[in-house]
Order: sequence, then structure tokens, then C-alpha cells
Amino acid sequence: MTKDKLPSEQVKVDYEYDTLTNDRLLKDHEYDGIRELDNAPPSWFNMLFIGTIVFAVLYLYILWMFQPAGLVQAKEYQNELAKAKTTASAEPGTRAIRMVLLNDEESMQNGQKVFNSVCAVCHLADGGGLVGPNLTDKYWVHGNSVKDLFTVITEGVIEKGMIPYRDQLSHQQRLEVSGYILNNLVGSEPANPKEPEGELIE
Ligand code: HEC
Repeated sequence: MTKDKLPSEQVKVDYEYDTLTNDRLLKDHEYDGIRELDNAPPSWFNMLFIGTIVFAVLYLYILWMFQPAGLVQAKEYQNELAKAKTTASAEPGTRAIRMVLLNDEESMQNGQKVFNSVCAVCHLADGGGLVGPNLTDKYWVHGNSVKDLFTVITEGVIEKGMIPYRDQLSHQQRLEVSGYILNNLVGSEPANPKEPEGELIE
């Protein structure tokens, strides 16, 4: 009767040793004369591996216990929403933006600053128009609602030479400068008004 082998003996791997270096070689792992060594993984690798496990456990623990705003998407979303509401009155729960005609003093000052530093090269500081149209008269190429102005300022009219300010000016700044044009420039009397362009809108 043959003695049953222990399971560990059944899967036993035979080793060979490199004749020169005495490194342990895996048997039957020879391809094109290249042999595979049977070295243990280096300790830095093991540390890294254990480190990832420790990190994962800590990460989950912190996520569950403290729910930091930077890591929880739902919270991040709520924060962004709250921020958007304080700047440009986004309706709660939607990405839609309500266009409001700003006319408070601070917004008008901010709008004027932006207009004089960014827009005046083409529209003149008094809005009389140069490369760009006169913004003080009742004639408009793209309409005269806050939304119309906001859209032109945001998207520009590249082929006519009006620059898109989507990236250069914040949402709030575009709203402020729109308000400044509609409240302060429209109806004023610039020194050298450019002849009307577009349609008459009363
Ligand atoms: C490089 C020149 C240039 C600059 C700078 C510029 N604009 Fe214009 N803008 C134009 C031109 C040209 C048009 C005419 C577009 C058309 O006819 O479709 C225009 C059109 C407009 C209109 C639409 C006018 C209408 O009749 O409908 C508004 C509003 C406007 N600009 C606002 C601004 C504001 C605000 C800024 C600064 C943030 C600005 N522009 C900066 C050249 C410029």
C-alpha cells in the first residue's frame, strides 16, 4: 500500500541552482535560453503593497466617518451649487442661470472698471463706438436684453471682431458689465457717436 502524499508534497516545485551565481532558478521556465529566477519580491515592493492596503482602509474609514467635502461628490455638488447661488442666482437644483439686470452701486462700479479696461479699446470708454458699435443708442445688432448682451459678451462675434469673454471674465463680471452698459451707457451722449448699426429697439 502506497503512503498518501501530503498536499504540500504534491505541488512541490523542483528547483535548480545557477552554477555560477548559485541563484535559485525556476524549473521548466526556460524560453530561448533565458531562465527565470525564483527570487522573493524585494522588500520595497512588499512595503508598497501593504501600504496600498493600509491606505485603502484609512481612506474608506475617513470617507465614511468624516465625509470630508472634498471627497464626497454629493457634498461637493451642494457646495458648488451654494457658491453659484451667491454669485449669479442659479435656480436651486438646476444649472439654468437667471439673467438679472444688476444695478446696485458695487456692480456698476465693477462693470465700469471692466468696461474701461477691457472693452473701451473698441467701444470707447463713453460707449460711443470705434471698431465696435455704439452702445449708447437704441440700435442693436444682437438685441438689448441682459441675456442678449450677456450672450454676445460670452460668445463674441468672432467674424465681426467682437471677442468672446467666456474665459477672460467671470460670469458675474459679464453680468456686471452688461448691467453697466444698459444702465449707464445707453441713453448717454458720447463725444463722437458712431452711426447706428442694427435695428431700432425702443
Ligand atoms: C476687439 C474689439 C472689441 C472689443 C475689445 C470688445 N468688442 Fe464688443 N463688439 C466689437 C464688434 C466689432 C462688435 C460688432 C459685432 C457685430 O456686428 O455682430 C461688438 C459688439 C458688441 C455688442 C453687441 C452690440 C449690438 O449692437 O448688439 C456688445 C453688447 C458688446 N460688443 C460689448 C462688449 C463688451 C462688454 C466688451 C468688453 C468686455 C467688448 N464688447 C469688447 C468689438 C469689440
